[in-house]
Amino acid sequence: MVFLKVVLWFGVVSLLSNNVYGGDTVTFERHDFPSHFIFGASTSAYQVEGAAFEDGRTPSIFDTFAHSDPKPGNGDVTSDQYHKYKEDVELMAETGLDAYRFSISWSRLIPNGRGPVNPKGLEYYNNLINALITKGIQPHVTLIHSDIPQVLEDEYGGFVGSRIIEDFVAYADVCFREFGDRVLHWTTINEANIFIFGGYDLGNSPPSRCSFPFGINCTKGNSMLEPYLAAHHLLLAHASAARLYRDNYQGRQHGFIGFNLYAFDFIPFSNTTEDVTATGRSKDFFIGWFMEPLMYGDYPAIMKKNAGSKLPGFTQKETELLKESFDFIGLNYYAVIRVKDNSEKLNKEARDYLADQATSWSYLEGSDPFSGNPFINTPWGLQGVLEHFKQAYGNPRIYIHENGQLSDHSTDYDTLLNDQSRVEYLQGHIGAVLDAVRNGSNTQGYFVWSFLDMYELMFGTKFTFGLYYIDFNDPKLTRHPRLSQRWYSKFLKAGNVSIARQYTSATSSRNPHVIGLNSS
Ligand code: NOJ
Repeated sequence: MVFLKVVLWFGVVSLLSNNVYGGDTVTFERHDFPSHFIFGASTSAYQVEGAAFEDGRTPSIFDTFAHSDPKPGNGDVTSDQYHKYKEDVELMAETGLDAYRFSISWSRLIPNGRGPVNPKGLEYYNNLINALITKGIQPHVTLIHSDIPQVLEDEYGGFVGSRIIEDFVAYADVCFREFGDRVLHWTTINEANIFIFGGYDLGNSPPSRCSFPFGINCTKGNSMLEPYLAAHHLLLAHASAARLYRDNYQGRQHGFIGFNLYAFDFIPFSNTTEDVTATGRSKDFFIGWFMEPLMYGDYPAIMKKNAGSKLPGFTQKETELLKESFDFIGLNYYAVIRVKDNSEKLNKEARDYLADQATSWSYLEGSDPFSGNPFINTPWGLQGVLEHFKQAYGNPRIYIHENGQLSDHSTDYDTLLNDQSRVEYLQGHIGAVLDAVRNGSNTQGYFVWSFLDMYELMFGTKFTFGLYYIDFNDPKLTRHPRLSQRWYSKFLKAGNVSIARQYTSATSSRNPHVIGLNSS
């Protein structure tokens, strides 16, 4: 048995450390990254904790979404990290993670959304944070990951109401006060842009608000107005919490406050001036929508022009609050979008946020729920995104907060564990980050999504991303290391990695004509 294990391990190690692809390859190792660069893995509260009805927790908008969604699974039990956190932290240490990115469940910590703190919630997050610190793993904490308390959604429509700002700041205050002596990296909101686009325009993610014909099957919402309104309140909630942190905590806790965005790499469908300009519009609408207020205190000019009076304005005081209100930006990267001009859309009177962009998004590629082919590996897109942040937004400090490949969760055990495709995916993307860093990007960390299998936002339990496989029918929810976990661990413990040069060559792949796309 021991012999067999040694042979298998040797096989894995040699596969991973040799030139997997042959031909034109590059080799890199962990020590090629700057010494302050950290590697970790990510999860989110609703997706991994389980114990949804235990110890005083109340439902969030994510619970409501999961229970009305036809896809299999929900967060009631999922990976049960609430009970298995000690074991999970051991596995993180074994893997060699520098950092673990997780989120706090607002409705576990403050079950009524505001007011009394739940001692059991406090105890759980203190235990988790202490376990991480004991193992030398940095906690990187997100405050909202698609899961504001349902009670606040019912009371005033969550982010549609401006009262969310005050309630969010009070919740953030509890977190900074209780955990800030050990947590140095705070992210206020996960994937602000996708949260708004999915939750208030398309209605296909929490809190499922939309209006026909822009989104379907929503019982409430207004796709023409609410995305702008909810984003406005979200930005002010972030900036107010950042101000609180800087004024009351940062001086003595010495931590950092950040914001997280989903980053598609937008590239023109063709080289026509129209498509190139349309690509710029998509970047402004999707990334600039948040980055420009966070940097300069106002929305991009093209958004003001196309959205008109639907886009709320900032007062002078709000502009000052927003300006430079972050220490770092977290990016979740999975996919590339090709953009085609569709200025016709501007002729329509009724327009949602997507129509205001006057574009069509198509030919999606990448490991992404929105993608046409979710299994395509596009590391060059990550380089494109990092270059964009360098050039357009003054090269801020960046953490890649999420990146990973989904796989079918219902195949045979061997296929589930031998995720060679995910290994190649991670190799390529980590190589792309290294290239970006060498080109001057101020990226300081990379987190794999996800540490283990869990209830997935867009797929339930049908497709998962974990470095550890979990059979959700196994009462013990045993964590089984995948090949990708062993690869990542070996890399973190300073192994060499060889990757095909094509994966790092941004320029050739970003040109649609070079890769032979149909540009009709
Ligand atoms: C986006 C979200 O942050 C996370 O909740 C989701 O599971 C993954 N990325 C994959 O879609």
